[in-house]
Amino acid sequence: MKQSNNKISFILGNEIIKIDFQEGKYSTTTTVLEYLRTLPERKGVKEGCAEGDCGACTIVMAELKNNKLEYKAVNSCLLLLPSIHGKQIITVEDLGTSTNMHVIQKAILDYNGSQCGFCTPGFIMSLFGLFKNEQNSTDDEIIESITGNLCRCTGYRPIADAAKHVFANKQNDQFTQNEPKIIKLIKEIQQDNLKLAGIIKLSDKFMQQYFIPQTLEQFFDIHNQFPEAELINGSTDTSLRITKNKEQIKQIIDLSQINDLQNIIEDKDENVFKIGAGVTMEDLRQNIKNKLPALYKMLSVFGAKQIRNKATIGGNVATASPIGDIVMTLIAYNAKIIIRNAKNERVIPLNKFITGYRQTLLEKNEIVRTIIIPKPSENEIIKSYKISKRSHLDISTVSAAFNLQLSNDNKIQNIIIVYGGMAAMPMRATKTELFLKDKDWTNETIIKSQEILSNEFTPLSDARSGKVARTIMCKNLLMKFFSENKNK
Ligand code: FES
Ligand code: FES
Repeated sequence: MKQSNNKISFILGNEIIKIDFQEGKYSTTTTVLEYLRTLPERKGVKEGCAEGDCGACTIVMAELKNNKLEYKAVNSCLLLLPSIHGKQIITVEDLGTSTNMHVIQKAILDYNGSQCGFCTPGFIMSLFGLFKNEQNSTDDEIIESITGNLCRCTGYRPIADAAKHVFANKQNDQFTQNEPKIIKLIKEIQQDNLKLAGIIKLSDKFMQQYFIPQTLEQFFDIHNQFPEAELINGSTDTSLRITKNKEQIKQIIDLSQINDLQNIIEDKDENVFKIGAGVTMEDLRQNIKNKLPALYKMLSVFGAKQIRNKATIGGNVATASPIGDIVMTLIAYNAKIIIRNAKNERVIPLNKFITGYRQTLLEKNEIVRTIIIPKPSENEIIKSYKISKRSHLDISTVSAAFNLQLSNDNKIQNIIIVYGGMAAMPMRATKTELFLKDKDWTNETIIKSQEILSNEFTPLSDARSGKVARTIMCKNLLMKFFSENKNK
Protein backbone atom coordinates (compact mmCIF):
# COMPACT_ATOMS: atom_id res chain seq x y z
CA MET A 1 0.00 0.00 0.00
CA LYS A 2 1.13 3.50 -0.70
CA GLN A 3 2.15 5.70 2.17
CA SER A 4 -0.82 6.72 4.25
CA ASN A 5 -1.83 10.33 4.25
CA ASN A 6 -3.92 12.19 6.76
CA LYS A 7 -5.03 14.99 4.48
CA ILE A 8 -7.63 15.54 1.82
CA SER A 9 -7.82 18.44 -0.64
CA PHE A 10 -10.82 19.79 -2.48
CA ILE A 11 -12.01 23.04 -3.99
CA LEU A 12 -14.40 25.36 -2.24
CA GLY A 13 -14.91 28.96 -3.27
CA ASN A 14 -12.30 28.72 -6.06
CA GLU A 15 -9.57 27.71 -3.65
CA ILE A 16 -7.95 24.48 -2.67
CA ILE A 17 -8.92 23.57 0.88
CA LYS A 18 -6.84 21.05 2.77
CA ILE A 19 -8.13 19.18 5.76
CA ASP A 20 -5.73 17.37 8.03
CA PHE A 21 -7.58 14.74 9.99
CA GLN A 22 -4.69 14.54 12.45
CA GLU A 23 -5.73 17.93 13.79
CA GLY A 24 -8.84 16.28 15.18
CA LYS A 25 -11.33 18.96 14.16
CA TYR A 26 -13.11 16.62 11.79
CA SER A 27 -13.34 12.88 11.68
CA THR A 28 -13.39 10.66 8.61
CA THR A 29 -17.10 10.07 9.26
CA THR A 30 -17.95 13.77 9.50
CA THR A 31 -20.49 14.49 6.80
CA VAL A 32 -19.94 17.25 4.27
CA LEU A 33 -23.04 18.94 5.69
CA GLU A 34 -21.57 18.92 9.20
CA TYR A 35 -18.32 20.30 7.83
CA LEU A 36 -20.00 23.11 5.85
CA ARG A 37 -22.13 24.10 8.82
CA THR A 38 -18.94 24.74 10.83
CA LEU A 39 -17.99 27.47 8.34
CA PRO A 40 -19.56 30.84 9.21
CA GLU A 41 -19.74 31.84 5.55
CA ARG A 42 -21.51 28.61 4.43
CA LYS A 43 -24.68 28.60 6.47
CA GLY A 44 -26.96 28.55 3.41
CA VAL A 45 -26.78 24.78 3.41
CA LYS A 46 -29.40 23.48 5.85
CA GLU A 47 -29.98 20.35 7.84
CA GLY A 48 -33.53 19.07 7.68
CA CYS A 49 -33.71 15.31 7.93
CA ALA A 50 -30.02 14.29 7.75
CA GLU A 51 -31.06 11.19 5.82
CA GLY A 52 -31.47 12.22 2.19
CA ASP A 53 -35.21 12.85 2.38
CA CYS A 54 -35.70 16.61 2.28
CA GLY A 55 -33.05 18.16 0.00
CA ALA A 56 -32.35 21.11 2.33
CA CYS A 57 -28.68 20.14 2.36
CA THR A 58 -28.30 19.94 -1.43
CA ILE A 59 -24.97 21.12 -2.83
CA VAL A 60 -23.40 20.63 -6.23
CA MET A 61 -20.25 18.60 -6.65
CA ALA A 62 -18.13 19.01 -9.79
CA GLU A 63 -15.83 16.17 -10.85
CA LEU A 64 -13.25 16.10 -13.60
CA LYS A 65 -14.23 13.46 -16.18
CA ASN A 66 -12.50 13.27 -19.56
CA ASN A 67 -11.04 16.71 -18.98
CA LYS A 68 -14.48 18.26 -18.45
CA LEU A 69 -16.29 19.20 -15.28
CA GLU A 70 -19.42 17.20 -14.54
CA TYR A 71 -21.75 18.86 -12.06
CA LYS A 72 -24.07 16.85 -9.86
CA ALA A 73 -26.55 17.84 -7.20
CA VAL A 74 -25.98 15.70 -4.11
CA ASN A 75 -27.21 15.50 -0.53
CA SER A 76 -24.34 16.77 1.61
CA CYS A 77 -25.83 14.97 4.65
CA LEU A 78 -25.04 11.64 2.98
CA LEU A 79 -21.50 12.49 1.86
CA LEU A 80 -18.57 11.65 4.06
CA LEU A 81 -15.93 14.34 4.12
CA PRO A 82 -13.02 12.28 2.73
CA SER A 83 -15.14 11.35 -0.31
CA ILE A 84 -14.90 14.90 -1.72
CA HIS A 85 -11.15 14.62 -2.13
CA GLY A 86 -10.18 16.00 -5.56
CA LYS A 87 -13.62 17.49 -6.30
CA GLN A 88 -15.14 20.96 -6.40
CA ILE A 89 -17.88 21.71 -3.90
CA ILE A 90 -20.34 24.46 -4.79
CA THR A 91 -22.79 25.86 -2.24
CA VAL A 92 -25.50 28.47 -2.69
CA GLU A 93 -23.11 31.19 -1.51
CA ASP A 94 -20.96 30.59 -4.59
CA LEU A 95 -23.83 31.41 -6.93
CA GLY A 96 -24.39 35.05 -6.14
CA THR A 97 -25.24 37.76 -3.66
CA SER A 98 -28.38 39.82 -3.11
CA THR A 99 -26.96 42.50 -5.39
CA ASN A 100 -25.47 40.13 -7.96
CA MET A 101 -27.66 37.06 -8.23
CA HIS A 102 -27.21 33.98 -10.35
CA VAL A 103 -30.01 33.67 -12.92
CA ILE A 104 -31.58 30.84 -10.92
CA GLN A 105 -31.64 32.88 -7.71
CA LYS A 106 -33.09 35.86 -9.58
CA ALA A 107 -35.84 33.75 -11.15
CA ILE A 108 -36.80 32.17 -7.81
CA LEU A 109 -37.13 35.70 -6.43
CA ASP A 110 -39.06 37.04 -9.43
CA TYR A 111 -41.48 34.10 -9.53
CA ASN A 112 -42.12 34.08 -5.74
CA GLY A 113 -40.48 30.67 -5.38
CA SER A 114 -39.49 31.17 -1.76
CA GLN A 115 -41.44 31.75 1.43
CA CYS A 116 -39.82 30.58 4.67
CA GLY A 117 -36.66 30.00 2.74
CA PHE A 118 -35.37 27.01 4.69
CA CYS A 119 -35.73 24.76 1.66
CA THR A 120 -34.86 27.38 -0.95
CA PRO A 121 -31.06 26.97 -1.06
CA GLY A 122 -31.57 23.26 -1.70
CA PHE A 123 -34.00 23.93 -4.54
CA ILE A 124 -31.62 26.42 -6.07
CA MET A 125 -28.75 23.96 -5.93
CA SER A 126 -30.81 21.16 -7.48
CA LEU A 127 -31.82 23.44 -10.34
CA PHE A 128 -28.24 24.67 -10.63
CA GLY A 129 -27.07 21.05 -11.01
CA LEU A 130 -29.51 20.64 -13.90
CA PHE A 131 -28.59 24.04 -15.35
CA LYS A 132 -24.92 23.12 -15.55
CA ASN A 133 -25.44 19.79 -17.26
CA GLU A 134 -28.40 19.94 -19.59
CA GLN A 135 -28.51 21.96 -22.75
CA ASN A 136 -32.27 22.09 -23.19
CA SER A 137 -34.11 20.82 -20.19
CA THR A 138 -37.68 19.69 -20.71
CA ASP A 139 -40.42 20.49 -18.23
CA ASP A 140 -40.32 16.86 -17.08
CA GLU A 141 -36.60 17.07 -16.39
CA ILE A 142 -37.11 20.26 -14.41
CA ILE A 143 -39.71 18.60 -12.20
CA GLU A 144 -37.55 15.48 -12.00
CA SER A 145 -34.60 17.54 -10.75
CA ILE A 146 -36.55 18.83 -7.74
CA THR A 147 -38.35 15.68 -6.65
CA GLY A 148 -35.72 15.31 -3.91
CA ASN A 149 -36.53 18.72 -2.45
CA LEU A 150 -39.44 19.17 -0.09
CA CYS A 151 -41.16 22.50 0.36
CA ARG A 152 -44.11 22.73 2.67
CA CYS A 153 -45.18 26.30 2.06
CA THR A 154 -44.38 27.70 -1.39
CA GLY A 155 -45.68 24.82 -3.45
CA TYR A 156 -43.88 23.61 -6.53
CA ARG A 157 -45.55 25.63 -9.25
CA PRO A 158 -43.73 28.95 -8.72
CA ILE A 159 -40.44 27.08 -8.36
CA ALA A 160 -41.06 25.14 -11.57
CA ASP A 161 -42.16 28.35 -13.35
CA ALA A 162 -38.95 30.06 -12.26
CA ALA A 163 -36.90 27.15 -13.59
CA LYS A 164 -38.77 27.07 -16.91
CA HIS A 165 -38.04 30.76 -17.34
CA VAL A 166 -34.33 30.19 -16.69
CA PHE A 167 -34.07 27.27 -19.10
CA ALA A 168 -35.98 29.11 -21.81
CA ASN A 169 -33.38 31.88 -21.64
CA LYS A 170 -30.30 29.86 -20.90
CA GLN A 171 -26.94 31.57 -20.94
CA ASN A 172 -23.42 30.93 -19.72
CA ASP A 173 -22.65 31.86 -16.15
CA GLN A 174 -19.53 32.67 -14.14
CA PHE A 175 -18.91 28.96 -13.53
CA THR A 176 -18.44 28.32 -17.24
CA GLN A 177 -15.89 31.14 -17.44
CA ASN A 178 -14.12 29.83 -14.37
CA GLU A 179 -13.83 26.22 -15.52
CA PRO A 180 -10.24 26.39 -16.86
CA LYS A 181 -9.07 27.62 -13.46
CA ILE A 182 -10.99 24.92 -11.57
CA ILE A 183 -9.70 22.19 -13.87
CA LYS A 184 -6.15 23.43 -13.26
CA LEU A 185 -6.69 23.31 -9.49
CA ILE A 186 -8.14 19.80 -9.63
CA LYS A 187 -5.14 18.66 -11.66
CA GLU A 188 -2.86 20.18 -9.04
CA ILE A 189 -4.58 18.08 -6.39
CA GLN A 190 -4.32 15.03 -8.61
CA GLN A 191 -0.61 15.55 -9.07
CA ASP A 192 -0.22 16.10 -5.39
CA ASN A 193 -1.92 13.11 -3.97
CA LEU A 194 -4.84 11.71 -5.90
CA LYS A 195 -2.86 8.54 -6.18
CA LEU A 196 -3.06 8.09 -2.46
CA ALA A 197 -4.24 4.71 -1.41
CA GLY A 198 -5.08 5.49 2.15
CA ILE A 199 -6.04 8.21 4.54
CA ILE A 200 -5.66 7.54 8.20
CA LYS A 201 -7.09 9.57 11.00
CA LEU A 202 -6.26 8.97 14.64
CA SER A 203 -9.08 10.25 16.76
CA ASP A 204 -8.90 10.76 20.49
CA LYS A 205 -11.52 8.14 21.14
CA PHE A 206 -10.38 5.46 18.78
CA MET A 207 -8.57 4.99 15.52
CA GLN A 208 -10.59 5.61 12.37
CA GLN A 209 -9.30 4.67 8.97
CA TYR A 210 -10.66 5.71 5.61
CA PHE A 211 -9.11 4.37 2.44
CA ILE A 212 -9.61 5.67 -1.09
CA PRO A 213 -8.10 3.14 -3.47
CA GLN A 214 -7.69 4.27 -7.06
CA THR A 215 -7.51 0.82 -8.63
CA LEU A 216 -8.96 -2.62 -7.97
CA GLU A 217 -5.48 -3.87 -7.23
CA GLN A 218 -5.06 -1.26 -4.49
CA PHE A 219 -8.52 -2.11 -3.19
CA PHE A 220 -7.78 -5.80 -2.78
CA ASP A 221 -4.45 -5.00 -1.19
CA ILE A 222 -6.13 -2.81 1.44
CA HIS A 223 -9.07 -5.15 1.85
CA ASN A 224 -6.74 -8.02 2.47
CA GLN A 225 -5.26 -6.11 5.39
CA PHE A 226 -8.59 -4.80 6.69
CA PRO A 227 -11.15 -7.48 5.84
CA GLU A 228 -13.68 -6.10 8.33
CA ALA A 229 -13.68 -2.62 6.80
CA GLU A 230 -17.02 -1.18 5.68
CA LEU A 231 -17.17 -0.88 1.88
CA ILE A 232 -18.88 2.20 0.53
CA ASN A 233 -19.30 3.90 -2.80
CA GLY A 234 -22.00 6.57 -2.72
CA SER A 235 -22.42 5.98 1.05
CA THR A 236 -26.17 6.65 0.75
CA ASP A 237 -26.88 3.63 2.95
CA THR A 238 -23.92 3.63 5.32
CA SER A 239 -24.22 7.34 6.11
CA LEU A 240 -27.56 6.73 7.77
CA ARG A 241 -25.92 4.42 10.26
CA ILE A 242 -23.62 7.29 11.12
CA THR A 243 -26.14 10.14 11.20
CA LYS A 244 -29.10 8.23 12.63
CA ASN A 245 -27.67 5.37 14.68
CA LYS A 246 -24.58 7.34 15.71
CA GLU A 247 -22.41 4.37 14.81
CA GLN A 248 -18.68 4.96 14.94
CA ILE A 249 -17.45 3.08 11.91
CA LYS A 250 -13.76 2.46 12.41
CA GLN A 251 -12.61 1.40 8.97
CA ILE A 252 -14.05 2.42 5.63
CA ILE A 253 -12.89 1.61 2.13
CA ASP A 254 -14.38 4.03 -0.39
CA LEU A 255 -14.58 2.52 -3.89
CA SER A 256 -15.89 5.65 -5.58
CA GLN A 257 -12.61 6.60 -7.24
CA ILE A 258 -11.97 3.27 -8.96
CA ASN A 259 -12.63 4.13 -12.61
CA ASP A 260 -12.54 0.48 -13.56
CA LEU A 261 -15.89 -0.02 -11.80
CA GLN A 262 -17.60 2.85 -13.59
CA ASN A 263 -18.05 1.66 -17.16
CA ILE A 264 -21.24 0.95 -19.03
CA ILE A 265 -20.46 -1.30 -21.98
CA GLU A 266 -22.92 -2.37 -24.63
CA ASP A 267 -21.33 -5.61 -25.77
CA LYS A 268 -22.68 -6.28 -29.25
CA ASP A 269 -20.91 -9.65 -29.57
CA GLU A 270 -22.38 -11.07 -26.40
CA ASN A 271 -25.61 -9.09 -26.81
CA VAL A 272 -25.50 -7.82 -23.25
CA PHE A 273 -24.95 -4.65 -21.25
CA LYS A 274 -22.09 -4.81 -18.79
CA ILE A 275 -22.59 -2.34 -15.99
CA GLY A 276 -19.73 -1.65 -13.59
CA ALA A 277 -20.75 -1.95 -9.96
CA GLY A 278 -19.68 1.65 -9.33
CA VAL A 279 -21.99 3.15 -11.95
CA THR A 280 -24.41 5.54 -10.28
CA MET A 281 -28.13 5.02 -10.60
CA GLU A 282 -28.49 8.33 -12.45
CA ASP A 283 -25.73 7.58 -14.97
CA LEU A 284 -27.30 4.20 -15.58
CA ARG A 285 -30.74 5.76 -15.94
CA GLN A 286 -29.51 8.26 -18.50
CA ASN A 287 -27.71 5.58 -20.50
CA ILE A 288 -30.39 2.90 -20.76
CA LYS A 289 -33.42 5.12 -21.27
CA ASN A 290 -34.54 3.65 -24.58
CA LYS A 291 -32.74 0.35 -24.28
CA LEU A 292 -34.06 -1.14 -21.05
CA PRO A 293 -37.35 0.70 -20.45
CA ALA A 294 -38.56 -1.31 -17.44
CA LEU A 295 -35.28 -0.61 -15.67
CA TYR A 296 -35.44 3.05 -16.69
CA LYS A 297 -38.93 3.32 -15.26
CA MET A 298 -37.86 1.83 -11.93
CA LEU A 299 -34.72 3.94 -11.76
CA SER A 300 -36.83 7.05 -12.32
CA VAL A 301 -38.69 6.43 -9.07
CA PHE A 302 -35.62 5.31 -7.16
CA GLY A 303 -34.95 7.90 -4.45
CA ALA A 304 -34.47 11.29 -6.06
CA LYS A 305 -31.82 12.73 -8.32
CA GLN A 306 -29.46 13.74 -5.50
CA ILE A 307 -29.49 10.17 -4.21
CA ARG A 308 -29.25 8.61 -7.67
CA ASN A 309 -26.23 10.81 -8.34
CA LYS A 310 -24.37 8.95 -5.59
CA ALA A 311 -26.05 5.57 -5.08
CA THR A 312 -24.56 2.82 -7.20
CA ILE A 313 -25.97 -0.25 -8.85
CA GLY A 314 -23.37 -2.45 -7.14
CA GLY A 315 -24.27 -1.03 -3.75
CA ASN A 316 -27.93 -1.69 -4.37
CA VAL A 317 -27.27 -5.29 -5.36
CA ALA A 318 -24.76 -6.01 -2.59
CA THR A 319 -26.92 -4.61 0.21
CA ALA A 320 -29.67 -7.02 -0.89
CA SER A 321 -32.56 -5.00 0.46
CA PRO A 322 -35.96 -6.71 0.13
CA ILE A 323 -37.36 -3.35 -0.97
CA GLY A 324 -34.41 -2.16 -3.06
CA ASP A 325 -36.58 -2.05 -6.23
CA ILE A 326 -33.80 -2.39 -8.76
CA VAL A 327 -32.86 -6.00 -7.99
CA MET A 328 -36.38 -7.26 -8.80
CA THR A 329 -36.28 -5.55 -12.16
CA LEU A 330 -32.80 -6.90 -12.89
CA ILE A 331 -33.97 -10.43 -12.09
CA ALA A 332 -36.81 -10.00 -14.58
CA TYR A 333 -34.15 -9.11 -17.16
CA ASN A 334 -32.32 -12.37 -16.30
CA ALA A 335 -29.31 -10.40 -15.04
CA LYS A 336 -26.16 -12.07 -13.81
CA ILE A 337 -23.41 -10.59 -11.73
CA ILE A 338 -19.68 -10.98 -11.74
CA ILE A 339 -18.18 -11.13 -8.29
CA ARG A 340 -14.47 -11.22 -7.79
CA ASN A 341 -11.71 -11.46 -5.27
CA ALA A 342 -8.07 -10.45 -5.74
CA LYS A 343 -7.43 -13.30 -8.17
CA ASN A 344 -10.60 -14.83 -9.52
CA GLU A 345 -14.01 -13.95 -10.81
CA ARG A 346 -17.22 -15.94 -10.77
CA VAL A 347 -20.51 -15.33 -12.54
CA ILE A 348 -23.77 -15.92 -10.67
CA PRO A 349 -27.39 -15.47 -11.79
CA LEU A 350 -28.68 -12.54 -9.74
CA ASN A 351 -31.66 -14.65 -8.75
CA LYS A 352 -29.33 -16.99 -6.84
CA PHE A 353 -27.09 -14.29 -5.38
CA ILE A 354 -29.37 -13.10 -2.58
CA THR A 355 -29.90 -15.82 0.00
CA GLY A 356 -31.83 -14.15 2.82
CA TYR A 357 -32.53 -10.88 4.55
CA ARG A 358 -29.60 -8.73 3.45
CA GLN A 359 -27.57 -11.89 2.90
CA THR A 360 -25.76 -12.82 -0.28
CA LEU A 361 -23.29 -15.33 -1.65
CA LEU A 362 -20.47 -12.77 -1.36
CA GLU A 363 -17.47 -14.13 0.50
CA LYS A 364 -15.60 -11.77 2.81
CA ASN A 365 -12.85 -11.24 0.25
CA GLU A 366 -15.15 -10.57 -2.71
CA ILE A 367 -16.94 -7.61 -4.21
CA VAL A 368 -19.60 -7.18 -6.85
CA ARG A 369 -17.67 -6.28 -10.00
CA THR A 370 -20.16 -6.10 -12.88
CA ILE A 371 -23.87 -6.55 -13.54
CA ILE A 372 -24.58 -8.26 -16.84
CA ILE A 373 -27.98 -7.57 -18.38
CA PRO A 374 -28.89 -9.56 -21.50
CA LYS A 375 -30.53 -7.48 -24.19
CA PRO A 376 -34.17 -8.55 -24.27
CA SER A 377 -35.30 -10.38 -27.38
CA GLU A 378 -38.17 -8.98 -29.40
CA ASN A 379 -40.76 -11.29 -27.91
CA GLU A 380 -39.93 -10.58 -24.28
CA ILE A 381 -42.35 -8.22 -22.57
CA ILE A 382 -40.65 -6.80 -19.50
CA LYS A 383 -42.41 -4.40 -17.14
CA SER A 384 -41.78 -3.04 -13.66
CA TYR A 385 -44.15 -1.55 -11.07
CA LYS A 386 -43.77 0.11 -7.71
CA ILE A 387 -46.45 0.87 -5.15
CA SER A 388 -45.48 3.50 -2.60
CA LYS A 389 -47.20 6.29 -0.71
CA ARG A 390 -45.74 8.91 -3.03
CA SER A 391 -44.19 8.48 -6.43
CA HIS A 392 -40.68 9.79 -5.73
CA LEU A 393 -38.31 9.59 -2.82
CA ASP A 394 -40.22 6.83 -1.16
CA ILE A 395 -39.62 3.26 -0.16
CA SER A 396 -41.81 0.80 -1.97
CA THR A 397 -44.55 -1.03 -0.15
CA VAL A 398 -44.65 -3.67 -2.86
CA SER A 399 -42.76 -3.70 -6.13
CA ALA A 400 -42.89 -6.16 -8.98
CA ALA A 401 -41.24 -6.97 -12.26
CA PHE A 402 -42.42 -9.36 -14.98
CA ASN A 403 -40.90 -10.93 -18.05
CA LEU A 404 -43.36 -12.65 -20.39
CA GLN A 405 -42.87 -14.61 -23.59
CA LEU A 406 -45.95 -15.67 -25.53
CA SER A 407 -46.28 -18.18 -28.33
CA ASN A 408 -48.06 -17.31 -31.56
CA ASP A 409 -51.20 -19.01 -30.26
CA ASN A 410 -51.22 -16.83 -27.13
CA LYS A 411 -49.82 -19.39 -24.71
CA ILE A 412 -47.38 -18.49 -21.96
CA GLN A 413 -44.04 -19.89 -23.12
CA ASN A 414 -42.14 -18.42 -20.23
CA ILE A 415 -42.86 -15.99 -17.42
CA ILE A 416 -40.71 -14.53 -14.67
CA ILE A 417 -42.56 -12.93 -11.76
CA VAL A 418 -40.51 -11.13 -9.10
CA TYR A 419 -41.70 -9.21 -6.06
CA GLY A 420 -40.12 -6.88 -3.56
CA GLY A 421 -41.68 -6.12 -0.19
CA MET A 422 -43.37 -9.54 0.00
CA ALA A 423 -40.61 -11.48 1.76
CA ALA A 424 -37.27 -10.98 3.49
CA MET A 425 -35.60 -10.73 0.12
CA PRO A 426 -36.56 -10.07 -3.50
CA MET A 427 -38.41 -13.23 -4.45
CA ARG A 428 -39.68 -14.97 -7.54
CA ALA A 429 -43.20 -16.38 -7.44
CA THR A 430 -41.99 -19.76 -8.67
CA LYS A 431 -45.19 -21.73 -7.99
CA THR A 432 -47.26 -19.17 -9.88
CA GLU A 433 -44.73 -19.17 -12.72
CA LEU A 434 -44.96 -22.95 -12.92
CA PHE A 435 -48.75 -22.86 -12.91
CA LEU A 436 -48.81 -20.28 -15.71
CA LYS A 437 -46.37 -22.05 -18.00
CA ASP A 438 -48.01 -23.23 -21.22
CA LYS A 439 -51.42 -21.90 -20.16
CA ASP A 440 -53.48 -19.48 -22.26
CA TRP A 441 -52.72 -15.82 -21.62
CA THR A 442 -56.26 -14.96 -20.59
CA ASN A 443 -58.12 -13.25 -17.80
CA GLU A 444 -59.35 -16.60 -16.48
CA THR A 445 -55.83 -17.98 -16.24
CA ILE A 446 -54.64 -14.95 -14.33
CA ILE A 447 -57.56 -15.09 -11.90
CA LYS A 448 -56.76 -18.76 -11.19
CA SER A 449 -53.08 -18.00 -10.78
CA GLN A 450 -53.85 -15.27 -8.24
CA GLU A 451 -55.06 -17.95 -5.82
CA ILE A 452 -51.67 -19.63 -5.99
CA LEU A 453 -49.92 -16.29 -5.76
CA SER A 454 -51.76 -15.29 -2.61
CA ASN A 455 -50.44 -18.39 -0.83
CA GLU A 456 -46.93 -18.08 -2.13
CA PHE A 457 -45.71 -15.35 0.23
CA THR A 458 -46.13 -14.50 3.89
CA PRO A 459 -45.46 -10.76 3.89
CA LEU A 460 -44.83 -8.71 6.99
CA SER A 461 -47.10 -6.08 8.45
CA ASP A 462 -45.16 -2.93 9.12
CA ALA A 463 -45.52 0.86 9.13
CA ARG A 464 -46.03 0.91 5.37
CA SER A 465 -48.75 -1.70 5.10
CA GLY A 466 -50.41 -4.74 6.59
CA LYS A 467 -49.83 -8.22 5.25
CA VAL A 468 -53.38 -8.56 3.88
CA ALA A 469 -53.02 -5.33 1.90
CA ARG A 470 -49.62 -6.43 0.61
CA THR A 471 -51.08 -9.70 -0.63
CA ILE A 472 -53.86 -7.83 -2.42
CA MET A 473 -51.31 -5.46 -4.01
CA CYS A 474 -49.23 -8.43 -5.13
CA LYS A 475 -52.21 -10.05 -6.86
CA ASN A 476 -53.35 -6.77 -8.36
CA LEU A 477 -49.95 -6.06 -9.86
CA LEU A 478 -50.10 -9.34 -11.75
CA MET A 479 -53.55 -8.43 -13.03
CA LYS A 480 -52.30 -4.95 -13.97
CA PHE A 481 -49.45 -6.50 -15.94
CA PHE A 482 -51.92 -8.77 -17.69
CA SER A 483 -54.35 -5.92 -18.42
CA GLU A 484 -51.63 -3.79 -19.95
CA ASN A 485 -50.36 -6.63 -22.12
CA LYS A 486 -53.34 -8.80 -22.89
CA ASN A 487 -53.41 -7.93 -26.57
CA LYS A 488 -49.76 -8.57 -27.35
FE1 FES B 1 -32.49 16.36 4.42
FE2 FES B 1 -29.94 16.14 3.71
S1 FES B 1 -30.73 17.17 5.39
S2 FES B 1 -31.65 15.53 2.59
FE1 FES C 1 -40.60 27.25 3.15
FE2 FES C 1 -39.68 25.83 1.37
S1 FES C 1 -39.74 28.00 1.32
S2 FES C 1 -40.47 25.11 3.22
